[in-house]
Amino acid sequence: LLSISDLTPAEFTKLVLNASSHKKAVKDAFAASQTPPKPLHGAMTGKTVAMMFSKRSTRTRVSTEAAVQLMGGHPMFLGKDDIQLGVNESLHDTSVVISSMTSCMVARVGPHSDVTGLAASSSVPVINALSSDFHPLQTIADFQTIHESLSSVPSPDGTHLGLSHVKIAWVGDSNNVLFDLAIASIKMGVHISVASPAGYGIPDHIRGIILAAAEGVANPGKLTETTVPEEAIKDADILVTDTWVSMGQEEEAKKRLAAFAGYQITHELAKRGGAKPNWKFMHCLPRHPEEVADEVFYDEERSLVFPEAENRLWAAVSALEAFVVNKGKIV
Ligand code: CP
Ligand code: NVA
Repeated sequence: LLSISDLTPAEFTKLVLNASSHKKAVKDAFAASQTPPKPLHGAMTGKTVAMMFSKRSTRTRVSTEAAVQLMGGHPMFLGKDDIQLGVNESLHDTSVVISSMTSCMVARVGPHSDVTGLAASSSVPVINALSSDFHPLQTIADFQTIHESLSSVPSPDGTHLGLSHVKIAWVGDSNNVLFDLAIASIKMGVHISVASPAGYGIPDHIRGIILAAAEGVANPGKLTETTVPEEAIKDADILVTDTWVSMGQEEEAKKRLAAFAGYQITHELAKRGGAKPNWKFMHCLPRHPEEVADEVFYDEERSLVFPEAENRLWAAVSALEAFVVNKGKIV
């Protein structure tokens, strides 16, 4: 699972719905002091998941470790100073060796080519835990959050989540989190409107990948792009942003903060832009106050950020079940 573009609409829908149903079943079981219900209980007994993280992480690390543990497997965290990769050993050799001893690699990398390189040499499934271009586990959790928040009714044929009336407005940097969110939006029939400052829009090759997600989809969503936040926000149901300075871009921080002036999500901006009256707010976290004001981030009526973060656990459970337990069959 390197990007949401690897999935058909039906597969993506199933991963989201499985995440949601496992959440309910496990919480009910834990409330009744029981072990996790089947099919999760013991599903990963004897399996080790190598978690190769070349960057920091709170949610992705904790959710993956907790998900593997929940299913009875062993998560092995390998930070950038723990293994030879990148210092003393090639991607190919590392991948061949680690995949010969484990059941899955979950990798957080710099360039996207690192995770595709690991996958090319691996004999076990590889899950992208964030690369320069994509963040599929975040997108599964994000659509789970939207589905749960809006109580959407999935289509009877299982090809979409029943969200085709929804408009998402992304206001901020065009980055890895946006790219998979946009691919999923196209596959789910959702309109996603992106406002980024000039020079910080979607790169052409990524736009090509996003638009290609419409191929073979009966009623694909659409992508619109602007440099004007109000235009993106008009009639939006969900306002989303992320940091303006992603990991690895720290040296550009000053320049970026200046370029993004006026893009902070506030109640006033949402009102001025004409968001729908019940608009909700999402953010993958970690969050900085420059991209969203406290009044929105901590708005109990509107902000979905903490359920969204919690859903990372259920997205990890769903993805590990599909790719490791069921060997890529998403059922
Ligand atoms: N949203 C997310 O991926 O957070 P972490 O960087 O803390 O894993
Ligand atoms: N865009 C951010 C996401 C962190 C989860 C980054 O790449 O640092």
